Amino acid sequence: MIVFRDVEKGFSGKEILKGFSLEVRDGETMAIIGYSGTGKSVALKHIVGLLAPFKGEVEVDGEIVHKLDRKGLRALRSKIGYVFQFAALFDSMTVEENIALGLQRQGLPAAKIAERIEESLLLVDLVGTEKRYPIQLSGGMRKRVGIARAIALRPKYILYDEPTTGLDPVTTAMMDLLMVRVKEKLGVTGIAVTHNMKSAFTIADRIAMLYDGKVRQVGTVEEIQKTHDHVVRQFIEGRPEAAAAEAADAGLQ
Ligand SMILES: Nc1ncnc2c1ncn2[C@@H]1O[C@H](COP(=O)(O)OP(=O)(O)OP(=O)(O)O)[C@@H](O)[C@H]1O
Ligand SMILES: [Mg+2]
Repeated sequence: MIVFRDVEKGFSGKEILKGFSLEVRDGETMAIIGYSGTGKSVALKHIVGLLAPFKGEVEVDGEIVHKLDRKGLRALRSKIGYVFQFAALFDSMTVEENIALGLQRQGLPAAKIAERIEESLLLVDLVGTEKRYPIQLSGGMRKRVGIARAIALRPKYILYDEPTTGLDPVTTAMMDLLMVRVKEKLGVTGIAVTHNMKSAFTIADRIAMLYDGKVRQVGTVEEIQKTHDHVVRQFIEGRPEAAAAEAADAGLQ
């Protein structure tokens, strides 16, 4: 289980997270939605200890992330797959070399590494691309390699940061199905940061909206779809701020 408890964090005097609390239960996929620049990526980075809170804490499987020593942090990171906002593949390495990297670091034997590469590529429908370089792949394929690389390590948790941003609607829908498949086949607990409500509704068990440094609302897909919170409603319907404010003033919420 991943628990954020009253996390406060900011940069150069600007507060970003202002008491962010959220519980992600084992086995579920939690989507985190919210406007650009509200701190969704910042929140994710706390889970793997890339950032530490000013106040509050993040707990993963009973351990407080910012209190872990180097060894503890390494152990924590080995059970978390991180799919970055930008695929972050090594351009000078082939697809299979990119995937192999983390497996070699774990000290797996060559035969096991080959097996894991094959299984992961199968899961993301990319068998046959082993020898290609990232530059020879489309944006969507690169993102899928990013996912294959994360799942090859058999993580308990997987964190997706904007897995579908910049993809066309059909490729986005394919990516969504792929994330559902990863969850079903591997039983991973997931957190997906996304702007795309259709994606959130497809991949998530629960959705949390980050707004003004805090969780504005958290609930099942159905609860969020039926929300009466005007801030959440405005976001999921993609209505401009002004229109929603007017509606609120007119008592239409
Ligand atoms: N390492 C950092 N140093 C300084 N400022 C940072 C750092 N990381 C994030 N920020 C700032 O914190 C704010 C929140 O950033 P974050 O990347 O978490 O937003 P986001 O919700 O993920 O946005 P987007 O949807 O555009 O990805 C931004 O104003 C960003 O400039
Ligand atoms: Mg982000």
